[in-house]
Amino acid sequence: MKTRLWTVDKNNVDNICCPQLEEAAKLLQQHEVVAFPTETVYGLGADATSDEAVDKIFKAKGRPSDNPLIVHIGDVKQVDSIASHIPIKAAKVIDAFWPGPLTVILPKKDYVSVKVTAGLDTVAVRMPSHPVALALLKKVSLPIAAPSANLSGKPSPTHGQHVMKDLEGRISGIVDGGATGVGVESTVLDCTEDIPVILRPGGVTKSQLEAVIGEVKIDQALLDNNQAPKSPGMKYTHYAPDAPLIIVQGTEDFLQQQILKYQNEGKKVGVLTTVENKGVYQADAVIVCGERSSLETVASELYSTLRSFNEYEVDVILSESFPEDGVGQAIMNRLVKAAGHQFIIQ
Ligand code: TXA
Ligand code: MG
Repeated sequence: MKTRLWTVDKNNVDNICCPQLEEAAKLLQQHEVVAFPTETVYGLGADATSDEAVDKIFKAKGRPSDNPLIVHIGDVKQVDSIASHIPIKAAKVIDAFWPGPLTVILPKKDYVSVKVTAGLDTVAVRMPSHPVALALLKKVSLPIAAPSANLSGKPSPTHGQHVMKDLEGRISGIVDGGATGVGVESTVLDCTEDIPVILRPGGVTKSQLEAVIGEVKIDQALLDNNQAPKSPGMKYTHYAPDAPLIIVQGTEDFLQQQILKYQNEGKKVGVLTTVENKGVYQADAVIVCGERSSLETVASELYSTLRSFNEYEVDVILSESFPEDGVGQAIMNRLVKAAGHQFIIQ
């Protein structure tokens, strides 16, 4: 399959990129699969009302079919055709955070394909804020199912080239709108409970949600890794670079000792650090991932940093650890999954 590539300027969506988005929208209407940028990560979109189209997403990604997809909409009003009921707290967070990096889980109507919801009686919905995503969704005027546009198990894509690398030849097109921004996926909030539950930490933090709707819980499975997670996607290995990743909790000296230990075993060692510690470590590849003093920048660069270790062909990656405050919770959630829960603790 030939994969079309359209480059669009997110700051000039109205004037310049219309013909490209017109073509992308038409392919989506014809039940083809097209990747597009959102403010979190690139999504792999298909008509959420078509079994045939949704099947193509699972096939292109190699995604297990019991892992449901998020439905993306370009207009808040569309949520009424997808959900059977909007609880009051859901309405409040929708009002406060859409368009934006928040997905709400709602009781479903039988409008989107059962392949999107993987047999659940709930549906995940989000309205992204990226100008290219919004323009495309408005042109298509269909709900679009879209998981992250990576091969299953790989780090999510935050640049058009990441999608190209994983999915060229497997999908009909890619709308390249440059770097995404937030860098980690949306927060998934289950609004079917009286006290809403965060199933996946993301771009909108727990305290931001609590400022709007009061108490919010965190899915027990996120705190206790032995329990089956309620968000089906959370049980799969994710975001992994080619080399094993280990999170190191300790001082810089301790991390340097670990580097030497692996090098003495003949291994090429990569290190994930931040601007503050640039120049601190002697290793085979030292990659700076944002500034520790601004965790938003770490989130924004996390997946492209994980991918970039593949180019250095290191044998092992040692990562600094991050505080779990604000977006730090999403960063550590993804890092721990990418590391397959491997830690070295001082
Ligand atoms: O930022 C994002 O959310 C990105 C962009 C493209 O919008 N999308 C994304 O989709 O991360 P995906 O498919 O990679 O992750 C969807 C998550 C999975 O963990 C899935 O299990 C969960 O949402 N999910 C979907 N529907 C659900 C439902 N009805 N109940 C519980 N969890 C659900
Ligand atoms: Mg994903």
